[in-house]
This record gives sequence, structure tokens and C-alpha cells, in this order.
Amino acid sequence: MLIEEFCRQMPKAELHVHLEGTIEPDMLLRLANRNDIALPWENEQQVREAYHFTCLQDFLTLFYNGCRVLTRADDFYDITLAYLKRAKDDNVIHAEMFLSPQSHLANRVGWNEMLDGTLAAMAAAQHDWGITSGVLLGLQRHRSEQEAIDILREAMPWRDKLLGIGLGGAEQGNPPRKFERVFRKAKSYGFYLTAHAGEEGPAEYVRESIERLGVDRIDHGNACLDDPALVAHLVESGIALTVCPLSNLRLNVESSLKEHSLNKMLKKDLKVTINSDDPAYFNGYINDNLVACQQALSLTEQQCLMLGRNSIEAAFLDTNQKNQYF
Ligand code: ADE
Ligand code: ZN
Repeated sequence: MLIEEFCRQMPKAELHVHLEGTIEPDMLLRLANRNDIALPWENEQQVREAYHFTCLQDFLTLFYNGCRVLTRADDFYDITLAYLKRAKDDNVIHAEMFLSPQSHLANRVGWNEMLDGTLAAMAAAQHDWGITSGVLLGLQRHRSEQEAIDILREAMPWRDKLLGIGLGGAEQGNPPRKFERVFRKAKSYGFYLTAHAGEEGPAEYVRESIERLGVDRIDHGNACLDDPALVAHLVESGIALTVCPLSNLRLNVESSLKEHSLNKMLKKDLKVTINSDDPAYFNGYINDNLVACQQALSLTEQQCLMLGRNSIEAAFLDTNQKNQYF
């Protein structure tokens, strides 16, 4: 079997994907039309042409704008089901998906709309295709600590249906320490914890996420390579990095796949996983990311298999669930 096909077929988990980042241009236009939301684009080609970014903030502006098309439970249902179908086709057996409640609440869309639709689609996907999934609430780091605390409180009625808490948005100038008390509270509620760190921000933010937020995983983590002691700690503790190679290219976090930090991360034995981040915006789902990395870095079958294994090991699943894939 060609190694490319091997990557596509192996069972894998996706641990870093934003549901609002999976809205393909045709879906975006369809939902805008259905909900009578004005967009600056009239057709798919115009939407695709707008998806060129120079940095994270450039992308976030479009991402938040795209969130406006989601207004009813059906909309959340449709995007979640479409993503899980696409993931299943990539042989994803389990997906952990960020949802950004603050964006929707700012658009006057309530928790019932967001979560009823999303959770119903997750149940349907599990029933129909056997794919399991979980929701991580993605807190936005450019917003206040108090707002994040309010989100945790408001999410309580759904506590047992939610997997964990993440931290995303504009990284530079918004250090993890700003959310130390929020993460402590989330931990006390039994949530799993992750934070985007070291994407545009420094290694120090990766360190702070571990030491002050107590995260179970780091999202991205590219900058950790600048701090050898931090790398040693990550290796020793087995804290996984959810790396998103095509996202990094599109947002100018990395200059090429051949030069991508992934190569160094693998050499240093960091627990790396490959993910899509916002596949509709970056034009690549999980297998596109895996295959692109395999080709650019000439990854061996053994290394590809390890990336797949890492993704399942780093998932927020219990040991019995994980063991069925090993
Ligand atoms: N929200 C969606 N995608 C993101 C990313 N790559 N970094 C930070 N916040 C995000
Ligand atoms: Zn992300």
C-alpha cells in the first residue's frame, strides 16, 4: 500500500478543530441565505478568494464574521454533522471539537441553540457512523476574565455533556496567566483543560499554560522549541501538542512544511498529533494535513503510525475506549 493511502486509512483522532472553522463556503452561503444574514460575498469563489491571511488576527476577523450565519439549533446541527461526516471519511474514529460560545452569545444566539444542535448531531453521527466526539468550550483570550467565569457558570446545566475548556483567539498580548482563576475553577468542575499557546506567542506562554493553567494538552505549541528545558518537561510529562501544519502555513506561523517545527518535534520525541484547526478556511482536513507532512518531510510508515497512535493516546477518552484501537 502506498504510504499516502496508509495515512488515510489508519484510525485516528482529531483533537484540534473549531466547529465554526469547518463551515465550507457553500454551507456559509446557504446558512446566510436561510437566516437572512448579509455577507460581502455572492458565490463560493468570492468566499474562497477572501480566505487569504497574513496573520492570526486577519483570520480571526473572518472567522468571527462567519459565526454570524449560525443562529438556530439546526445550523449548529448541520455544520457539526457535515464535519463529522467528513472526519469519518478520513477514518477519524473520535473528534474533540471547539465551540466558541462567546462569539454566538455576542450575536444574541443562546446556549440552547448552540448546544442542542451540536449535541444532537454528535449523537446522530455516533449512531449512524460509530464516530465518537466531544465538545470543548473555546474561551476567547482577548475577552475578560469575568466573561470567561460567566461562561463557565452558564455552561453548568450542560456540564456532563461537555468534555472540557480551551483557550483561543488573539494570542499576542493575552498571556495565559490572565485566565489562571478561570482554569482553576474549570478544573474543580472536572473539565479537561487545553490552551492554544506558542502559535504566534512565545515559549513562555506554553510554559505558563502548563504551570499556571494546568492544561492537559497544548494546542499548537510550535514556539516550545525555543526553550530546551520546556521541551524536556513536555517530553517527560507526555503532554501532547495538537499541531496544525496547514493552518500554520496559511497564517504565516511557519514558512514551509519542509521547515516546519514538526520535524524537530518528532526528533525530540515530543508527543505530537496532527490536526486541521479550521479546515474550511485553510483548505485542508486532517488527512490533507497528514499526507502533506508525510510528503514534505518523507515521514516513514512508522512515524505516521505513531502520529495516529499519539492522537488516540492524547484524546480525552478513558483507557478502555482507547484500548479498543490498539
Ligand atoms: N480560533 C480558531 N482558530 C484559531 C487559531 N488557529 N488560533 C487561535 N484561535 C483560533
Ligand atoms: Zn485552533
